[in-house]
Amino acid sequence: MKADLVEANGANIPAIGLGTWRLQDQACADAVQWAIEAGYRHIDTAARYENEAAVGAGIRASGLARDEVFITTKVWHSDLRLDDFRRSAEASLKRLGLSQVDLLLIHWPNSDVPLAESLNALAEAKRSGLTRHIGVSNFPARLLEQAVQQSCEPLTVNQCEYHPYLDQSRVRAACRAYGTAFTSYCPLGRGELTQEPLIEAIAGKYGKTPAQVVLRWHVQQPGTVAIPKSGNRQRIAENLNIFDFVLSGEEMRNISGLARPDGRMVRPAWDMDFEDEI
Ligand SMILES: NC(=O)c1ccc[n+]([C@@H]2O[C@H](COP(=O)([O-])OP(=O)(O)OC[C@H]3O[C@@H](n4cnc5c(N)ncnc54)[C@H](OP(=O)(O)O)[C@@H]3O)[C@@H](O)[C@H]2O)c1
Repeated sequence: MKADLVEANGANIPAIGLGTWRLQDQACADAVQWAIEAGYRHIDTAARYENEAAVGAGIRASGLARDEVFITTKVWHSDLRLDDFRRSAEASLKRLGLSQVDLLLIHWPNSDVPLAESLNALAEAKRSGLTRHIGVSNFPARLLEQAVQQSCEPLTVNQCEYHPYLDQSRVRAACRAYGTAFTSYCPLGRGELTQEPLIEAIAGKYGKTPAQVVLRWHVQQPGTVAIPKSGNRQRIAENLNIFDFVLSGEEMRNISGLARPDGRMVRPAWDMDFEDEI
């Protein structure tokens, strides 16, 4: 099974990627290799995950040609000054064993660094060939708008928390307005959605699992990519096997109706402007 592609500002991004946060060492390398063997062509990592070397090892172990897999990494919010940024991106490439990633993201905004400086560092990473595409992560709508206006290179992706318990319509509308793809992290609500009775009922109707229904809900929304994490070979394959059924409009709306005010699962451990809007 292969994922559909999401086109955004010149990039073609496989709509399902493997999330790798909390996967480490051999378990991480194995998960990446299993994912590629199952048909994944998109892997998400970050300098902060301290697993880039294992991600690189897993890709090499799969034997897949480098240009067949879309690899995203991220620069941590403490490294957004020009020199720190370049150092971080180069160190990521070294650990991955690659000369270039497909997508480099600012992992979280940092109001102590002028936005223009971090965007300049991001664009510079693209111009110098460290990455094919650039984007951001955890940028609320207002900040994304400023970033799009100030960036001299198109922003391909905004990666944010999104799952049926969390309404993200504002930032998603902003992404649509700028042609920026929206990548859903924690797409399964860290697994919690798989216990949800409504999702279980829809899964039964299609002979699918709850996780497959939730991932299908993501990729059926325009411009949307999802990066579920699993370290389990069977669940890794299961999470990609979602391109052979279609949820009805009513099912999509009912699933979206699970959103609740306390639905957010990820909050930064540091003070951040725009926190109310992420
Ligand atoms: N940009 C950011 O700031 C940011 C923040 C958080 C996450 N992320 C990215 O997003 C990725 C995904 O987010 P996440 O890992 O927090 O949460 P998630 O993908 O929503 O959920 C992962 C959890 O669901 C379980 N799971 C996976 N597939 C399943 C299935 N088919 N059935 C039942 N349970 C299943 C996993 O367990 P098993 O491993 O045991 O299968 C794991 O406990 C991360 O790995 C990372 O790459 C980015």
